[in-house]
Amino acid sequence: MRQKLLIVGGSYAASEIASHARECGYDEDIIIVSEELELPYQRPPLSKAYLKEHTQKVMPLKSAAFYSAKNIELELGTKVLGIERGANTALLSNGTHVTFDTLALAVGARAQRLLCTGADAKNVYYLRSIEDARLLSAASAGAEKVVVIGGGFIGLEVASALAQQLKQVTVVETQNRVLARVVSPEIAEFVSSAHVGHGVKLLTCRAVQSFVGENGVVRKVLLDGGTSLDADIVIFGIGSAPNMELAQQLGLHFENGIIVDSRSRTSRANVFAAGDCTRFFSPFNLNGIPVESVQNATDQARVAGSVIAGKDNVYETLPWFWSDQYDLKLQIAGLAVGATERIARPTVTSGISVFHFRNDACICVESVNGPREHIAARRLLARERITKQQLQDVDFDMPALLKLRALPTDGESVNRADEQKTKVSSD
Ligand code: NAI
Repeated sequence: MRQKLLIVGGSYAASEIASHARECGYDEDIIIVSEELELPYQRPPLSKAYLKEHTQKVMPLKSAAFYSAKNIELELGTKVLGIERGANTALLSNGTHVTFDTLALAVGARAQRLLCTGADAKNVYYLRSIEDARLLSAASAGAEKVVVIGGGFIGLEVASALAQQLKQVTVVETQNRVLARVVSPEIAEFVSSAHVGHGVKLLTCRAVQSFVGENGVVRKVLLDGGTSLDADIVIFGIGSAPNMELAQQLGLHFENGIIVDSRSRTSRANVFAAGDCTRFFSPFNLNGIPVESVQNATDQARVAGSVIAGKDNVYETLPWFWSDQYDLKLQIAGLAVGATERIARPTVTSGISVFHFRNDACICVESVNGPREHIAARRLLARERITKQQLQDVDFDMPALLKLRALPTDGESVNRADEQKTKVSSD
């Protein structure tokens, strides 16, 4: 009898698990069940280009013809409601059951919600899916005053897109600076200045108390300390939480994400997981922090697909991220968690790079408008231990150090693919 791989989810991880399992020789049945109606699609433009020009088409990661040619069945607009552990059977929202031999969870994360008076009003938006982006895009077209709650990636990318449409944008952030979770104060300062220069009001160390309005529509956002902000629309970007319902039903080990090993295996033998719903430890992620990015979902899922197909691969990849705001390209290579020292330097392209060190080894390089520094950092940090002295010797010029190490500039296919992704994302 044929075996079946059931993949739950509809984004980067789901698509990559399926296509890599096939590429690595898995020739049993594969079915992807996704509650979204669209084929898995590119998400970075949702908080950037899509909000500037909402007529933009959603860009599928792979065409329908690809899935069909690879004999990957897609069940779109369908939710997996539950999984019967003992029977290896999933109940779908269309009333059918799927029995599987191997299960891969690529269920992602959901937007965190704020529970306070008025937070469920009609003109309050979140942004994770194309459907959310369509609703926000339509609403923002007629809005003048926009209040963004959260100065993280989503909040700032949305603020950037809407400020460039000359909306009056205010960002409310509870921490004492924006991007506190993800970048150093120096980078945050650089990014903040660009927002202020585009007329965005940044309110830090402030918390929302309630929303005031009528007929289910917010008109004012009330902050602690009595400040009141007029609002035509409110957008939340206050973080995300992994979708854990199925993991819970399956009795998987989870803690702020499904715990997986370097082969994307969960605590149950026939269950794999990849992407935003997971947490893992690796030489590049010693603290096992959740890594929510396109790079992680893609690369981790490739390993999952290959292991499902019987290969022995491990996921030990340097994480990297990017964000585009105005004419700023923020790029991060590595994770700065656990760093004990940092050094900031200007880039040759009028930007800034910040080098983070732990025990004298460089573990993360954040750059704004330093694409050469970023690519060089990705190549170097992925392969060897770079010390502070080595960087000092070349005046913190990462591309120069790369040249000195004589690492291939045209190296492995993985790196070429990564650069292509960086290029695509800079739209
Ligand atoms: P985030 O964690 O990046 O930022 C959330 C921000 O909201 C933090 O600065 C936090 O201090 C603040 N915050 C939390 N509660 C608050 C409250 N009640 N009032 C005001 N501020 C509050 O999460 P974000 O921006 O929502 O993004 C969600 C996920 O999507 C993240 O994992 C992010 O990494 C990912 N993402 C990544 C992008 C990229 O790599 N360019 C772009 C968009 C999203």
